[in-house]
Amino acid sequence: MMVLHQRLLLFILCFYLVNTAFKAVAEDENNQRKPYIVYMGEATENSHVEAAENHHNLLSTAIGDESKAREVKMYSYGKVINGFVARLFPHEAEKLSRQEGVVSVFKNTQRQLHTTRSWDFLGMVESKYKRSVAIESNIIVGVLDTGIDVDSPSFDDKGFGPPPAKWKGKCVTGNNFTRCNNKVIGANYFHIDKEGLPDGRGDSAADYDGHGTHTSSTIAGVSVSSASLFGIANGTARGGVPSARIATYKVCWFLECSDMDMLAAFDEAISDGVDIISVSIGGSSLPFFEDPIAIGAFHAMKRGILTTCSAGNTGPGLFTVSNLAPWVMTVAANSLDRKFETVVKLGNGLTASGISLNAFSPTKKMYPLTSGLLASNISAGGYGEPNSCESGTLGEDKVIGKVVYCEAGRQEGVTGSSGQDHIVRNLKGAGVIIQLLEPTEMATSTLISASYVFFEDGTKISEYINSTKNPQAVIFKTKTVKMLAPSISSFSARGPQRISPSILKPDISAPGLNILAAYSKLGSITGYPDDTRKTLFSIMSGTSMACPHAAAAAAYVKSFHPDWSPAAIKSALMTTATPMRIKGDEAELSYGSGQINPRRAIHPGLVYDIAESAYLRFLCKEGYNSTTMGLLIRNNNTNEFKCENFKRGLGSDGLNYPSMHKQVNTTDTKVSEIFYRTVRNVGYGPSTYVAKVWAPKGLTVEVVPKVMSFEKPGEKMNFKVLINGVWDETTMKGIVSASVEWDDSRGHLVRSPILLFRSDKNYR
Ligand SMILES: *[C@@H]1O[C@H](CO)[C@@H](O)[C@H](O)[C@H]1NC(C)=O
Ligand SMILES: *[C@@H]1O[C@H](CO)[C@@H](O)[C@H](O)[C@H]1NC(C)=O
Ligand SMILES: *[C@@H]1O[C@H](CO)[C@@H](O)[C@H](O)[C@H]1NC(C)=O
Ligand SMILES: *[C@@H]1O[C@H](CO)[C@@H](O)[C@H](O)[C@H]1NC(C)=O
Ligand SMILES: *[C@@H]1O[C@H](CO)[C@@H](O)[C@H](O)[C@H]1NC(C)=O
Ligand SMILES: *[C@@H]1O[C@H](CO)[C@@H](O)[C@H](O)[C@H]1NC(C)=O
Ligand SMILES: *[C@@H]1O[C@H](CO)[C@@H](O)[C@H](O)[C@H]1NC(C)=O
Repeated sequence: MMVLHQRLLLFILCFYLVNTAFKAVAEDENNQRKPYIVYMGEATENSHVEAAENHHNLLSTAIGDESKAREVKMYSYGKVINGFVARLFPHEAEKLSRQEGVVSVFKNTQRQLHTTRSWDFLGMVESKYKRSVAIESNIIVGVLDTGIDVDSPSFDDKGFGPPPAKWKGKCVTGNNFTRCNNKVIGANYFHIDKEGLPDGRGDSAADYDGHGTHTSSTIAGVSVSSASLFGIANGTARGGVPSARIATYKVCWFLECSDMDMLAAFDEAISDGVDIISVSIGGSSLPFFEDPIAIGAFHAMKRGILTTCSAGNTGPGLFTVSNLAPWVMTVAANSLDRKFETVVKLGNGLTASGISLNAFSPTKKMYPLTSGLLASNISAGGYGEPNSCESGTLGEDKVIGKVVYCEAGRQEGVTGSSGQDHIVRNLKGAGVIIQLLEPTEMATSTLISASYVFFEDGTKISEYINSTKNPQAVIFKTKTVKMLAPSISSFSARGPQRISPSILKPDISAPGLNILAAYSKLGSITGYPDDTRKTLFSIMSGTSMACPHAAAAAAYVKSFHPDWSPAAIKSALMTTATPMRIKGDEAELSYGSGQINPRRAIHPGLVYDIAESAYLRFLCKEGYNSTTMGLLIRNNNTNEFKCENFKRGLGSDGLNYPSMHKQVNTTDTKVSEIFYRTVRNVGYGPSTYVAKVWAPKGLTVEVVPKVMSFEKPGEKMNFKVLINGVWDETTMKGIVSASVEWDDSRGHLVRSPILLFRSDKNYR
């Protein structure tokens, strides 16, 4: 499953309610066939038509029926990615996977979607940082998401010239999507399988969810003053590269995003001429060429386009990170220096500080207070948990006009919206206080006056209710309060990764908690279909919100260095990132190199670059063979890439990654690792860099050579990092975190984290 990396479980609940109604379809042969993606590597120079013809022939051979082949084919890709999608039986898919010219065949799955103070927080205070506006306005960021609302003030194109000359994309209008403009220069939608969509929604890039409008405006929204969610977080909202252009590729429908649609969108976006691609979507970790995002991003990388992806919201457990290919930039979510507090005051004068996005101001001084238990309408032996105000357990007569206190009860681990606001609203309650089982920093929009309180505060409220005859309470409108930042969000997915154990993921972190950004006029604020309130801006959380910050940062770096490769841009952002001081033991497994610092990233001093050929060598070492490589580089004149020349083994040997990582199984306690790296001088004049290392007690980190002198820009130097010592389990547990930093004493600090993970230790 691919998911939008946004942390609102409730949206997904709503989706299931709507979607199940459309799934009762007759069972015939065509229904037993399932969509499979047949990936064939790099597109040939043939026209799209020839590619389609070739796909048809291949399919006919596998199925043994020419007209059936025509009937079951769903997509033919051929702009930059070669491949097609067809409804197949498993044996047909298997047969196709053995055909010449086929890299992989995999079943189509659904993935899911996993401001604005945030840019000031990152040091990009409006009009106070360097920008390269003319070049920035020539940068096009492609966003694969839920579509966009062009009418949002964030996408006002006043003062923008026509689209950059290189732009070759389309603006497909229709069904609630009426126009593009000089800010949102392109829009298209991808949804080959129309089943399961309500009328009219299937043929449009209109954003019915708000997610795509939110992420797009975080990247490139223009400055809008007095932006807020009903007054909450009031301030100026803007994107990181407000002069850049947006191209929308709608691939998610009801928050699910199909592999085959995403691949079609990548094929189009790359050939349309975008410069950066932002994908706040993910799913389970799969081998690179069975993962549409990894495949799409690979072809993008070949054309100089960096793809940024969300790391996922399944943290804080280890081994949860997704989007693992070394050619994507994988982004974790951290907090901002503010949170949203919703104060509850009780009749006895006690207050509790909760968290939520409560847009409602009280109209009375106090309201009668009850609890789910006291408002229960369940007879003995009845079904449900009134304690936690479950649907159908409360009596309207006992709730009407009152504030209801609910324990989270059975919803263990669920810290998102838990639905009680909707239940109590339907029973005409005045408000709801929900006790959380686990602390959270994530503020959730509520349908009526509501606050989520932590465990101790909840107990306090419950005691008050038990000890008072006529308990009373009032919930105030949410206000913004300062807090220490950044810290990594608990939902943000953690490494280590399972596909390439020598590449550290996530790569980097960016703000993703409680982000204010533009919202779609067609979207529901809480996700409930019966929430009819409209807002121009809304607050959302998730690595979905972090990814567009990193995409904008990449566009920002590109506006100063238009000729840099995707790997060089990523290196600049990683080596200048700010490491986080956080609680817990996951260290770099949660934030990678640290929080993006775009202003530093435009002058990184040195970069760790990775050419396409280096990625191919990496793939050989990961076990792919020359046949596959030949398909991946088909249009290259060399047309031959001999994997046999590269010993199979851990792929990162030779991959010049800006962080250093190994998952090791040590039978004894000895640690001995070497990393080889090459840096290129991207500073201006001659410079001398000295290696500074940091290592925990018991380990030595040695850099050879310790000093590197560069005469001129563009010069390259090799070095190696040797790590030796003893693994002290009492202090290191399963994780050792160290770093190497190149310092030129003139303001360039080029930092690489080193993280060793002991996979045999069954850590956590
Ligand atoms: C346009 O959006 C409105 C509001 O969501 C919806 O009721 C209507 O069906 C949509 N029309 C089309 C053609 O999608
Ligand atoms: C937001 O702030 C602006 C400027 O400080 C102010 O004029 C405006 O009334 C505020 N809006 C809300 C909804 O609080
Ligand atoms: C209470 O439950 C009974 C059935 O158990 C139902 O008939 C009645 O409508 C409920 N009352 C309220 C106020 O929801
Ligand atoms: C309040 O009373 C209910 C019902 O007797 C009980 O379950 C709950 O634990 C009490 N709350 C506290 C804080 O003691
Ligand atoms: C493909 O060709 C380009 C330019 O000729 C070259 O830079 C690149 O290294 C080649 N790729 C491979 C894998 O050989
Ligand atoms: C290369 O790998 C593919 C897929 O694993 C396999 O089908 C093919 O036979 C291999 N080719 C060679 C020459 O080993
Ligand atoms: C370490 O050992 C475990 C258990 O035997 C195995 O699953 C894992 O793949 C090994 N990891 C490495 C990096 O060798």
